[in-house]
Amino acid sequence: MPWITLNICLIRRFSFASDILTQLESLPDGQTLVSENEIFEMGFFSPGTSTDRYVGIWYHKIPGRTVVWVANRNRPFKNNSGLLSINAEGHAVLLSNDDNIVWLANSTKKALSPILQLLGSGNLVLREGKDLKPQNYLWQSFDYPSDTILPGMKFGWDLRTRLNRRSTAWKNWDDPSTGDFGAEILLHNYPEVANWQGPTELSRVGPWNGVRFSGYSHVTRNPLYELKFVWNKDEVYFVYKIINESMITRVVLNQTLYSVVDSIWSEDDQRWITFSFSPGDNCDMYNRCGPNGNCVLGETPICQCLTGFLPKSPKNWNAMDWSKGCIRNKSWSCRGNNKDYFVKFSGLKLPDTTYTWVNASMTLEECKAKCWENCSCNAYANSDIREGGSGCVMWFGDLIDIRQVPFDDQDLYIRLASPETAELDEAIGNKTTVIAVTVSTVLAVVMLITLFYIYIRRRTSIGNKEEGSDGNMELQTLMAENNEEGYEGNMEQRIYDLAVIANATNNFSLDNKLGGGGFGLVYKGILGDGQEIAVKRLSQSSSQGLREFKNEVKLCAKLQHRNLVKVLGCCIQGEEKMLIYEYMPNKSLDSFIFGNESQLLDWSKRFHIIRGIARGLMYLHQDSRLKIVHRDLKASNILLDSELNPKISDFGLARIFGGDKIEDNTRQIVGTYGYMAPEYAIHGLFSIKSDVFSFGVLLLEIVSGMKNRGSFLSSQSINLIGHAWRLWNEGVPLKFANEHLEGSYVESEVLRCIHIGLLCLQYNADDRPDITSVVIMLSSEGVLPEPKEPGFLLDHIPVKGESPNNHATPSSNEISMTMLEAR
Ligand SMILES: *[C@@H]1O[C@H](CO)[C@@H](O)[C@H](O)[C@H]1NC(C)=O
Ligand SMILES: *[C@@H]1O[C@H](CO)[C@@H](O)[C@H](O)[C@H]1NC(C)=O
Ligand SMILES: *[C@@H]1O[C@H](CO)[C@@H](O)[C@H](O)[C@H]1NC(C)=O
Ligand SMILES: *[C@@H]1O[C@H](CO)[C@@H](O)[C@H](O)[C@H]1NC(C)=O
Ligand SMILES: *[C@@H]1O[C@H](CO)[C@@H](O)[C@H](O)[C@H]1NC(C)=O
Ligand SMILES: *[C@@H]1O[C@H](CO)[C@@H](O)[C@H](O)[C@H]1NC(C)=O
Ligand SMILES: *[C@@H]1O[C@H](CO)[C@@H](O)[C@H](O)[C@H]1NC(C)=O
Repeated sequence: MPWITLNICLIRRFSFASDILTQLESLPDGQTLVSENEIFEMGFFSPGTSTDRYVGIWYHKIPGRTVVWVANRNRPFKNNSGLLSINAEGHAVLLSNDDNIVWLANSTKKALSPILQLLGSGNLVLREGKDLKPQNYLWQSFDYPSDTILPGMKFGWDLRTRLNRRSTAWKNWDDPSTGDFGAEILLHNYPEVANWQGPTELSRVGPWNGVRFSGYSHVTRNPLYELKFVWNKDEVYFVYKIINESMITRVVLNQTLYSVVDSIWSEDDQRWITFSFSPGDNCDMYNRCGPNGNCVLGETPICQCLTGFLPKSPKNWNAMDWSKGCIRNKSWSCRGNNKDYFVKFSGLKLPDTTYTWVNASMTLEECKAKCWENCSCNAYANSDIREGGSGCVMWFGDLIDIRQVPFDDQDLYIRLASPETAELDEAIGNKTTVIAVTVSTVLAVVMLITLFYIYIRRRTSIGNKEEGSDGNMELQTLMAENNEEGYEGNMEQRIYDLAVIANATNNFSLDNKLGGGGFGLVYKGILGDGQEIAVKRLSQSSSQGLREFKNEVKLCAKLQHRNLVKVLGCCIQGEEKMLIYEYMPNKSLDSFIFGNESQLLDWSKRFHIIRGIARGLMYLHQDSRLKIVHRDLKASNILLDSELNPKISDFGLARIFGGDKIEDNTRQIVGTYGYMAPEYAIHGLFSIKSDVFSFGVLLLEIVSGMKNRGSFLSSQSINLIGHAWRLWNEGVPLKFANEHLEGSYVESEVLRCIHIGLLCLQYNADDRPDITSVVIMLSSEGVLPEPKEPGFLLDHIPVKGESPNNHATPSSNEISMTMLEAR
């Protein structure tokens, strides 16, 4: 550890070994103050390759000098003659050798015996020698942030003094002077946090709704921080605190990236690991979709008009120029025929708050009435969503910078007017419902037509219809129809009788249990004719109606691909809902790659499995009639047949289970920890690219034989992704491959797999290849792009609402969800 030695010798030679500078002393270039807890150090430094001298604060023990604050950021010294001291007036001053004041900490009042102290928080304070009270500090560096927001720092306004604590990026690595990228709290009636590039608003973190920054859950969901927002007549600020105080984290504005970057210091790795960016994705860009447009990640196109609005310029809109946004149907007039009404939208980021009005003691009803009275009021909401909601915020003029945030529980009420108001209500935010309704209407007609046919058919199906179980009969209708339609595979889906399944599984005996997923337990069964089956008994909490369930089974059963598990049929009786699959003798992939049997899987088999999974996923994403996002791709969901062909299971299951309900009820991010893409885990945004991320994890697991999560107990802060990334950057990626494989593998294939894995794991969803490209990359030898830093290098950041230790038990944490789109 050469740097420790170096540091010790630095301290011995230059350091004051003190955290205090009195009026009698001065700090010349070359000497430093060190905070009492030895976390921070202050002194002169030159950034990057520059030779200019600045006074700044950095981490004492972290090598490479990470600067968190700079005093004279816009007025560097050109030589080593600088001197920091406290002058006769009690101001802290930075002097050149000809006594020019280069920088000054202006004390609010004259102190008797002022001292300058570097606190353990990284705050440099000027105070009266005997007075330790923070409210009496004469000056503090936390009031003048540079590019870094540290824990404990108040970020925002002191309204009494009009002090605005805002932050601006360094121009670049070599130059700490004020860049044009900044962040601050905007003092609108409903205050909000925004990022700026010069005069242009880049992105909004959004207003504080009592729980979090609206639509911007990343800071709040972040389990490392505790975030507080203070908003009263004297102050408007936020402050964050690290939950585990022995961790070192920082939030930095980066001019190169135009991003606010959160990172954590990894002791094992001896480097900063980024765990969050903002803006985090395309929808975070300010006013991305124009006035009254809604940005929906994963939707094509990404911009959608809010329900009740139409593109202002259809021509531009269709050419993907969304800047003109959306308008209400022209025939609309405010309170025309008194028909205005408000429609509740859930999961939207609250619009730009420039033109707002707030009353913190009004109720939602009062708010509605007040908004309705005023024709320029276009929307209203509770200003605080805690305890059922309170307060009133109203928006005037166009609604700007809205995005969909699926797991946000804030409601926004938007003024609409339409004679067909009742129908609109149903359509809000739920296209799939509309599709389902249409589908079921069609089905009802089909059902009548085929009734006679079914009646006959029923008699040939296994088991007898129970008295009163109309469900099965209807289901048979659907199934029959399904079989008639002759989709790929032409397979026959059966309706099984509960008694038959109970018998086959030895009355759901524990001995027959194969495993459990998020949706329930899986049993092995043997039918009377000797056929082996797997039965997924959906847990009873499924809230989905019978009709929806049948629809879903029908859709799922249509998905036929050699890398998907075959759905043979289902069984519904009373509360029981079951899916019957073909039985896979080799169980799931996790028992092969992580278990004792891992030696059985040589490289060629692993490569075969990787390619099979990719093809199965490609089918789900692209080739099937339904576009399906799996949302819970993981080793235990990959089953292997007798020839070790991989088969993806649990696709489409979330819809069967009523995924939307789960979202509403628990507001949890579903999916499996360790496989979730950052935008999904943090923002709740899922897309085919979050599946690609999960595929990347799976790929690394297959190559290394290690689990992404929990493999590195000795060095807690890094996971498998971090390990792969480290070896990749150290130029020794082959070290990543499972030791059992040594000698058996084709080097170029292993390298290519790791490379593709890292491409799939890139932080930014847009950077990740789609699965079709992955399939092509896996079977070609073309040059691949260099991967950017992956998301989630750390192992110990559980997501809010996720209990970290229960991933072995079936629970809603493991539930997958799927998104269907009509094609
Ligand atoms: C050092 O630089 C400062 C300005 O940064 C200048 O005022 C001063 O004269 C210089 N001193 C020497 C010794 O060159
Ligand atoms: C320092 O503050 C005092 C009082 O607030 C003010 O009068 C003075 O001009 C300030 N000095 C400088 C150099 O800003
Ligand atoms: C901003 O981020 C880039 C890319 O991670 C990095 O190279 C650069 O040093 C950062 N800039 C500063 C001022 O830290
Ligand atoms: C806090 O972080 C340190 C260093 O990462 C770790 O060793 C310790 O276990 C953590 N404490 C808790 C309570 O999580
Ligand atoms: C606008 O609204 C009117 C009245 O509700 C309706 O007849 C018309 O079809 C709508 N136009 C469009 C383009 O939706
Ligand atoms: C806010 O609302 C309350 C309750 O309706 C009312 O009493 C109060 O006057 C309102 N304040 C303002 C400034 O409008
Ligand atoms: C509607 O509200 C705006 C903003 O508060 C206000 O300027 C305007 O006077 C109000 N109009 C009416 C008719 O009350």
